[in-house]
Amino acid sequence: MQFTYYGHACFALETMGKKLLFDPFITGNPLAKHIDIDAIAADYILVSHGHGDHVADLVNIAKRTGAMVIGVYEIVGWVQQQGVEKTHPMNFGPYNFEFGKLRFTPAAHSSALPDGSNGGNPGGFLIDNDEGNFYYSGDTSLCMDLQLIPHYAKLNVAALPIGGNFTMDVDDAVMAAQMIQCKKIIGVHYDTFPAIIIDKETAREKFMAAGYELLLPAIGETISL
Ligand code: NI
Ligand code: MN
Repeated sequence: MQFTYYGHACFALETMGKKLLFDPFITGNPLAKHIDIDAIAADYILVSHGHGDHVADLVNIAKRTGAMVIGVYEIVGWVQQQGVEKTHPMNFGPYNFEFGKLRFTPAAHSSALPDGSNGGNPGGFLIDNDEGNFYYSGDTSLCMDLQLIPHYAKLNVAALPIGGNFTMDVDDAVMAAQMIQCKKIIGVHYDTFPAIIIDKETAREKFMAAGYELLLPAIGETISL
């Protein structure tokens, strides 16, 4: 699996020959000005919830790439109304896609779309396939539902929010890593706005002290998982 970070909670996962783009928010991110949004390819776009910092570039990229949008029923209805044709609505549960088994999992957060439409339930995604597995919690606080994740998969790597204020902070994310039983964590949802600026070195040290590894790829960087 290849992971490319586009800033905030937007990233791509390349697996089983498919490009999966998560939570497209690039043009509104002052830290991602160097990312050429029109150069991003996608076969699927996975949406965790309806907030603007996760869907701002969703319809635009979906239309240009022809990617299939996967998300909760309410968000899929919203993108369909804007002319996106290839969609797959879900709610909490699993489905087998050509890139592997995908489970939409609960997050403790809120969800409304930028125009005020109902964003359905917020969630995260667990992917399990022949290449390995990957979990992205979406925007969430620390919550007991995270303890269910290791019952579904013995995780290799997971992306968790670490910026605080709207989501878990670094200390919460260390506890989340324990709950999901995953040694390697990619930190997302930090530094984009003043309220979520973190000290990256302290964050890495806190994870290391607890026996975990925190990866903080640069915006635009691709890493192999
Ligand atoms: Ni949010
Ligand atoms: Mn967010």
